[in-house]
Amino acid sequence: MLDVAVLVSGRGSNLQALIDACAADDFPARIVAVISNNPGSYGLERAKLAGIPTAVVNHRDYEDRESFDNAIDEELKKFKAKFICLAGFMRILEARFVNRWRDRILNIHPSLLPSFKGLHTQERALESGVRFTGCTVHIVRPEMDEGPIILQAAVAVDPEDDADSLAEKVLIQEHLIYPEALKLIALGRVSISGNRSIIEKAEYPKEALI
Ligand code: GAR
Repeated sequence: MLDVAVLVSGRGSNLQALIDACAADDFPARIVAVISNNPGSYGLERAKLAGIPTAVVNHRDYEDRESFDNAIDEELKKFKAKFICLAGFMRILEARFVNRWRDRILNIHPSLLPSFKGLHTQERALESGVRFTGCTVHIVRPEMDEGPIILQAAVAVDPEDDADSLAEKVLIQEHLIYPEALKLIALGRVSISGNRSIIEKAEYPKEALI
């Protein structure tokens, strides 16, 4: 059983997808803590409703990124987390932290990386005129939105889409591939080689549009 801490900043719908997946008896990971930099994150409520311990590490209380990262690390130790899932966690973690947790941090990003790193992904996808966009679950490296890709799912961009409708369609796919990626890792079916991941017997969720 892989003991996972989930870091959130906002509404926490990906956290909910992970909570729901972990509720299955045969799921190989469990969430030992939900940590947020934002005391108002709805993710904290979702965790409480699911009986998962929570902690707030408010970035405003720390004078620099290093002390903020160290405070997160302290919480992770306290909860004996062995793996981290970033689920809409909107703070950049510094290289020192990321390297300490090398290959043990997973992130979800609402685009087909390496396209559209950073913020306002759907607006930029629409402006660029791509026919497909999607989402990516990847291992975190110190450079923002970089690192070995575990799973991706594609979404068609329709002529009538705006940023909100596109984000909604992408989010449905996020909720499918994030738990699946965590499952593959927890089962030990993912190995990392350079910037690539090799997955033994990957099975995409049937509902995901690949
Ligand atoms: C999700 O769309 C996630 O992919 C994105 O924030 C949203 C969080 O929603 N993450 C990033 O943009 C990280 N670079 P949620 O709080 O409902 O899971």
